Amino acid sequence: MSLPAAAMDAAQRVAALCREIEGHEHAYYVLDRPSIPDVEYDKLFAELQALEAAYPDLLTPDSPTQRVGGKPLPGFSPVPHAVPMLSIRTETDTEPSGARAFDARVRRELGLGESDPAIEYAAELKFDGLAINLRYANGVLVQAATRGDGETGEDVTQNIRTVHCIPLRLRGDAPPLLEVRGEVFMSRPEFERYNEKQRVLGRATLVNPRNAAAGSIRQLDPAMAAERSLSFYAYGLGEVGGWALPATHGGVLDALAARGLPVCEHRAVVTGADGLIAFHSRIRKERDGLPFDIDGVVYKVNSLALQQRLGFVTREPRWAVAHKYPAEEALTTVEAIEVQVGRTGAITPVARLAPVFVGGVTVTNATLHNEAEARRKDVRIGDTVIVRRAGDVIPEVVSVMLERRPTKDLFGAEPLHAAYELPKTCPVCGSAIERPEDEAIARCTGGLFCPAQRKQALLHFAGRRAMDIEGLGDKLVEQLVDGGIVRTPADIYKLGLLKIVALERMAEKSAANILAAIEKSKATTLARFIFALGIRNVGEATAKDLARHFGSLDGLITADAERLQQVPDVGPVVAASIARFFAQPHNVEVIEQLRAAGVSWPAGAPSALANSPIAGKTFVLTGTLPTLTRDEAKDMIEALGGKVAGSVSKKTDYVVAGAEAGSKLDKAQTLGVSILDEMHFRELISS
Ligand code: IVH
Repeated sequence: MSLPAAAMDAAQRVAALCREIEGHEHAYYVLDRPSIPDVEYDKLFAELQALEAAYPDLLTPDSPTQRVGGKPLPGFSPVPHAVPMLSIRTETDTEPSGARAFDARVRRELGLGESDPAIEYAAELKFDGLAINLRYANGVLVQAATRGDGETGEDVTQNIRTVHCIPLRLRGDAPPLLEVRGEVFMSRPEFERYNEKQRVLGRATLVNPRNAAAGSIRQLDPAMAAERSLSFYAYGLGEVGGWALPATHGGVLDALAARGLPVCEHRAVVTGADGLIAFHSRIRKERDGLPFDIDGVVYKVNSLALQQRLGFVTREPRWAVAHKYPAEEALTTVEAIEVQVGRTGAITPVARLAPVFVGGVTVTNATLHNEAEARRKDVRIGDTVIVRRAGDVIPEVVSVMLERRPTKDLFGAEPLHAAYELPKTCPVCGSAIERPEDEAIARCTGGLFCPAQRKQALLHFAGRRAMDIEGLGDKLVEQLVDGGIVRTPADIYKLGLLKIVALERMAEKSAANILAAIEKSKATTLARFIFALGIRNVGEATAKDLARHFGSLDGLITADAERLQQVPDVGPVVAASIARFFAQPHNVEVIEQLRAAGVSWPAGAPSALANSPIAGKTFVLTGTLPTLTRDEAKDMIEALGGKVAGSVSKKTDYVVAGAEAGSKLDKAQTLGVSILDEMHFRELISS
């Protein structure tokens, strides 16, 4: 039977769209290197959806449109694993001796003597999520299953389809049967984003990224799973048919990456116990900076032939071990609950804790976020709680161990301490604390009358990304405000040597340094100045947009809400905050004083950017420049209407490279992007 011409065209177009969208998704979700603007992607996606709606026969299970929207399931079907999903032995000795013990065990099992050569290992991260088996038949994802008891898992194919970095179809030549094993997890930024949203809505938050991943994948409603963005890294194989395996585990991972599967870049092939130890200690240092949780690293004998010789003991391979790091969660007790007052008056309840070592540091405070969350978790003085500190995020109380709550009597009937309530007045300035009905955050109404808010406002003003006054930190601001020496940002510029030296523990030399830093900060940019003002809802990016749009401070001050909303990304809420800020005579007065003190920035009318040699151009900075810091170079580019991106793509106009430039420089050369050193960069922007 031959199809009508229109349907044949449609079939070709659908196939082409699928391949093209897959390519863009791989670039975006796996390589983290977007290949087209979002709007273009959306157009392709909409076109594909429309064609599939018009020609339902053309819809295939591996179409990119099938990631979202299945129907809720009545339950998960069991999936027997052709190759059992095993676990790995855990080495709880977090010191180098843990790695030595593993290497010694492997050598003994292989009958190696001291004079035999060192063993090669594949070292990788131990991801903290949910193990998943992905089954690809002729390159198409046909089934995804959890580990279950190792023999039989649960069919979670629908939910796994919502994980964007998991290819629905493999790239290149695909073997008839390939089962890929790996870990589904939630990244820390996604975890924070999701929880922040839940907090604003007054809903329950996720406990930690691991539970988040497991909970999402085991959701019966795929729409709920799709709401939480998960990630995936492949770390091994299950059943394989019709594929000549590479000789090493490292080779297997390379082959998986080449077929479009996400494989974590933090891996290495190392030699002997020393190689394992070096990897363990390197990753331990990098752990906080990773965008996801790990609870250790995994060592695997690299040669698949040796793996086979070593075999298994009960349910664990002899050729692999997980070498742990100190835990990111720990138990401690709550000694008090206090509140902290932020720059905009936001009141945050904070638990003061008995000191506890967690995630590599000693923690004494943990945030309870807001009143509703403190209530929901029902944290009380005397409680034993689980605290979590992962990455560089603020430690938080995860949950209370209710069974250990101290009680008034032996029978445990009545708790010793009452449920937490936010104070009615600010503990710092005594002003009323208020919470608008539709908001989660309560605020001190004292404004800049409140010393706590004033200190935070000054710290923000002096911050590195704002006026960048080096040395004006916590301690100094505390003394200056408490001593009544500084009330507003303008007072900073009235400070003299004598006043600073008079402060406790202040040597003349450091006082002079601070004065020099204050002086230096006077020459700034309009964007930094706007950001420094600390207008509610105006972050660094908005400040830059405002500076670019208005070109002058007076233009901004006099703009009404309507004009403000012409700025990209400025909506009614932000516009109202800005208008409210400048409507306060006090704020305008401080600005006038700052200008009178000599704070200034290069004038730039918005139209001046039209003459800029780099307006609208995209730059990538890499390596160390001889005289400019990265921030300085970024400021110069942005002041002239250019943009700075984090990674090199076809859309990059210039790469500015300094000493020890790495892969970005290679990439620029491959793509033929113009490469500038600092001197040529300076020439370009002054042309
Ligand atoms: S390999 C036969 N590699 O840890 C070896 N597992 O107890 C199979 N995990 O359930 C596992 N990161 O979910 C392996 N790089 C990694 C891993 C990893 C995390 C998890 C996995 C498994 C558990 C092992």
